[in-house]
Amino acid sequence: MPSHQSAKEEIKRAADIVQVIGQFVQLKKAGKNFVGLCPFHAEKDPSFTVSSDRQMFHCFGCKKGGDIFAFGIDYHGLTFPEALKDLAERYNVQITDKFSAIEEKKKSKLRETLLKINEAATLYFQQALSKTAIENPAADYLKKRAISNEIISEFRLGYAPDKWHGIVDYLRRHKIDLERAVQAGLIIPKKGGGYYDRFRGRIMFPILNLRGQVVGFGGRVLDDSLPKYLNTPETPVFHKGEFPYGLHASFKAIRQKGIAVIVEGYMDLLALRRHGLDEVVATLGTALTDQHIRKIKGYAKEAVVVFDPDEAGRNAALRSLPLFLNEGLPARAVVLPDGHDPDSFVNTKGLPEFLKLLDSASSMFDFFLAQKLTQDDSDIEGKVHALKEILPVLSQLRNAAQRSLYVGRLSERIGIKEEVVLSELKSFKQNRSGDAPERGLKDRLKGRKLDKKIGDIQLLNLLVHHPKTITGLMDSGCRDLLSDDTASKIVEVIFDKYRREGQFSPENIEDTLDNDDVRIRLREVMVADSIYSDQEVKQAVEEIREKARQKRLSDSVAEVKGDPEALNKMLLSKRRAQISY
Ligand code: GTP
Ligand code: MN
Repeated sequence: MPSHQSAKEEIKRAADIVQVIGQFVQLKKAGKNFVGLCPFHAEKDPSFTVSSDRQMFHCFGCKKGGDIFAFGIDYHGLTFPEALKDLAERYNVQITDKFSAIEEKKKSKLRETLLKINEAATLYFQQALSKTAIENPAADYLKKRAISNEIISEFRLGYAPDKWHGIVDYLRRHKIDLERAVQAGLIIPKKGGGYYDRFRGRIMFPILNLRGQVVGFGGRVLDDSLPKYLNTPETPVFHKGEFPYGLHASFKAIRQKGIAVIVEGYMDLLALRRHGLDEVVATLGTALTDQHIRKIKGYAKEAVVVFDPDEAGRNAALRSLPLFLNEGLPARAVVLPDGHDPDSFVNTKGLPEFLKLLDSASSMFDFFLAQKLTQDDSDIEGKVHALKEILPVLSQLRNAAQRSLYVGRLSERIGIKEEVVLSELKSFKQNRSGDAPERGLKDRLKGRKLDKKIGDIQLLNLLVHHPKTITGLMDSGCRDLLSDDTASKIVEVIFDKYRREGQFSPENIEDTLDNDDVRIRLREVMVADSIYSDQEVKQAVEEIREKARQKRLSDSVAEVKGDPEALNKMLLSKRRAQISY
């Protein structure tokens, strides 16, 4: 057994997948499994399923799934070796580094290096901020902006001195490969050779991922020069819009309070934190992305988005409604009074006033309506225009009760009869290519229990949930009963495995399956409930054996049809077989 295999097994024994995934996705118990909103695709009703018994996850919507390592790969964007290493460290399992494919190893090595360089840079910037005033105008600036020392150290703020070779020299002294530092986005190669600092004379805000690693930086000038903020460019560890700023520090408070307050800027977030509002994250000036929301909904039951009162802020608010509706995260929106952003508001009026404002936030939908109608509702043309813009949003609501509520509200506000709104909505939907309705998660988890007639589902379910039946089924010819290739492939692999090793457990065959459809199918059977109770298993096996025998006979009948003598013999033995049964 290669060494990573045993490390993998050991980690699987030590770690609990429900606990690991539960850190990032809100899970609730549903039967023997846990379910939650899938972090990998947009959904409003949970189809993301985590099985404690099987130590695996599976989404019945987007079909992503696998073991605890697959989660690290899909959720954190790790390579397999990185996921292994991450969990090995967390659960104190020794691993050797000899197993991964060269490409993967290179990739994870590079990322590891870039993270180390970012960490070194963070220390350099922090040091620079702790120096005396002559060398360091940033401390003064932060004081003026009412950022406390606690906040400075918690968020690891720093200062990039106004030099061309500040961090270049520092990294060189620390024997860091400068080409790698270029890849980390910290320095820039000069045309004639050599390098210079990207961030000069800026307050530095390290951007941490959910695992507490510095993936990139934002840097703010100390005066009015432009650009006001400079960010790390795209690098192998930094992707803009991947998660909101501050989530690593706020996720506990967000889960505890159930609410995430979403603001735009670094300074807004830090100001609110200093005043004691912990459940806050920042989008850093970009529009909210579905990725942001999927990360946030792993902790929050509701979001309150605080928009700046300018045109850009309002437009951002309007664009974010469909995202929230799609992701199924209830959201409210509030716009600050003119001339304010959260930072200036909380610093001049205090937290209680800000909280009042949050309390007054209306639902994102009402906010959307109000905005659209002030812009457009002056005349009939305007109303029709507003209606046209709102219909696509309304049609995305899958919850019928919610939809009819909004239709009512819309018709009232816009002064168009409810029937008219409804029929417009209907024709809008018909004109779109309809997406197939998804079958209820409950049914799927129940393994379609209603029908116990032997078919593909029943046979697979039996083998996976009652592996002991394998001895009774292996030589029965039951594979001939299967009507689809996916099921047949799984059964073949199960039997093969058993023949070779004398045992089989479904957890260990996923790696043997080389086709995604087959793996997905197996996972779905594994996280489903058993169709048969322990008492029913024996009878089910008998039924399958008998059915297979009948099938064998009728197949042979078909074969010998052209040969009357052979046919006679066959029919005779068939009758005997029935009698003996
Ligand atoms: P202060 O002016 O210091 O209060 O910062 P702020 O956070 O209030 O900035 P602002 O409201 O102007 O912008 C909100 C966020 O957008 C900032 O925190 C940045 O993340 C981002 N942003 C603003 N200006 C720039 C820029 O020039 N370049 C980039 N890349 N991002 C910016
Ligand atoms: Mn500001």
